[in-house]
Amino acid sequence: MAEEKPRQFVGKTEFKKGLEGAITNESSISYVDGANGKLIYRGFSIDDLCAGGGGFEETAYLLIDGELPTKAQLGAFSKDLAGRRAIPQEVKDLITLVGSRTHPMNTLRTAVSVLGCLNTKEFEVNVENDLDIAMSLTAQFPTVVAAIQRVRNGQSILDPDPSLGHSEDFMRMMTGEAADPRTAEVMDMALIIHAEHGMNASTFSAMVTNSSLTDMYSSICAGIGSLKGPLHGGANEATLNTFLEIEDPAKTDEWFAAAKEKKQKVMGFGHRVYKAYDPRAVIFDPIAKEFAERAGSGHLHEIAKKLEALVVADLGGKGIFPNVDFFSGVIYNAMGIDTDMFTPIFAVARIAGWSARILEYLPENRLFRPRAVYVGDLESNYTPIDQR
Ligand code: SDX
Repeated sequence: MAEEKPRQFVGKTEFKKGLEGAITNESSISYVDGANGKLIYRGFSIDDLCAGGGGFEETAYLLIDGELPTKAQLGAFSKDLAGRRAIPQEVKDLITLVGSRTHPMNTLRTAVSVLGCLNTKEFEVNVENDLDIAMSLTAQFPTVVAAIQRVRNGQSILDPDPSLGHSEDFMRMMTGEAADPRTAEVMDMALIIHAEHGMNASTFSAMVTNSSLTDMYSSICAGIGSLKGPLHGGANEATLNTFLEIEDPAKTDEWFAAAKEKKQKVMGFGHRVYKAYDPRAVIFDPIAKEFAERAGSGHLHEIAKKLEALVVADLGGKGIFPNVDFFSGVIYNAMGIDTDMFTPIFAVARIAGWSARILEYLPENRLFRPRAVYVGDLESNYTPIDQR
């Protein structure tokens, strides 16, 4: 039997890799009901928030402030956000410099860093100052992401139009023209349902970083870095690339058989918390069909449905179902958005959740500092280098 390695005990040593099931803090921001496939923001279902007509601005207010706004409060909040959308020339220059040379999430992360460098206010880290930064970043993310999409397509950067709503202006700055009402409505809904999702990897990254009482720009950069990964926010891009690779619905079975053979994870499926359908995938499915058929890419939705049937039949018993990233890319593709811009759009929404969680935790902040069980050698003898 292999010699038992010494383990330095740090109290109880039962743990699950990836902090599975670990509790970090108490929160009233959202509840992810993994068993029943439900998502609730501050007590309200995402279905009600999408149908309510208050838009992403209402959801951002709810997440950050904790209550649904009155009409007057929503008006003032939306006006405040609209007035903060503009980005400095230095950020436009940065986007022009690197935007076509690197992944858009790298450009977004760097743009946030530059915004931090340009905010020379000597401020202490507190809720009031971090709320000010949160409002500006929530307002500026669409402007930055739209500018990245434009620069990558050789187009000029467009300035915000504060007379338009958040999602409407985002689409206009991205495409250069007024979005049709249905497209603006669906983008707004996409931002609502991507806005917040408990202690996911990027939110946790932002909170861990912020718990050292660093500046919020650094914390949000940490969140962007985590969201980019294909196991997390990058899965929407990877999922659409799967559909493009399959190309023909008739080839879906063959593709899945090969993926199974290679024990390859199928992007857009599975979740650490949901062991039922992700309610966000349920909302997106019919919209993906509508938009794909309208754009002449109905075959992509057909492939998605065939792959869904195959994976659920094979892995549904293990609680593996479509997640938020499974259908969203079909919608964005039908809107004419570049595939590697999908995750930045996720960030345009999630900045609200990251901000809400950082602001909620800050008043009773405690540095996040877990431990690992040491299984290395102890008391090794040092051999001088000329004897090794
Ligand atoms: C998001 O956390 C959040 O809330 C995230 C998010 C949010 O809004 O912030 O919801 C957004 O990130 C959604 C997830 C997007 N990622 C993907 O679609 C990538 C593909 N999915 C997998 O990588 C995986 O499902 C994870 C990472 C999402 C969750 O994985 P876990 O909980 O760490 O589970 P695991 O990798 O340990 O898998 C458990 C088993 C394994 O099989 P066994 O070794 O036990 O036999 O399930 C299998 C895995 O192989 N499995 C899959 C699979 N996901 C898990 N098998 C095939 N395809 C998959 N997609």
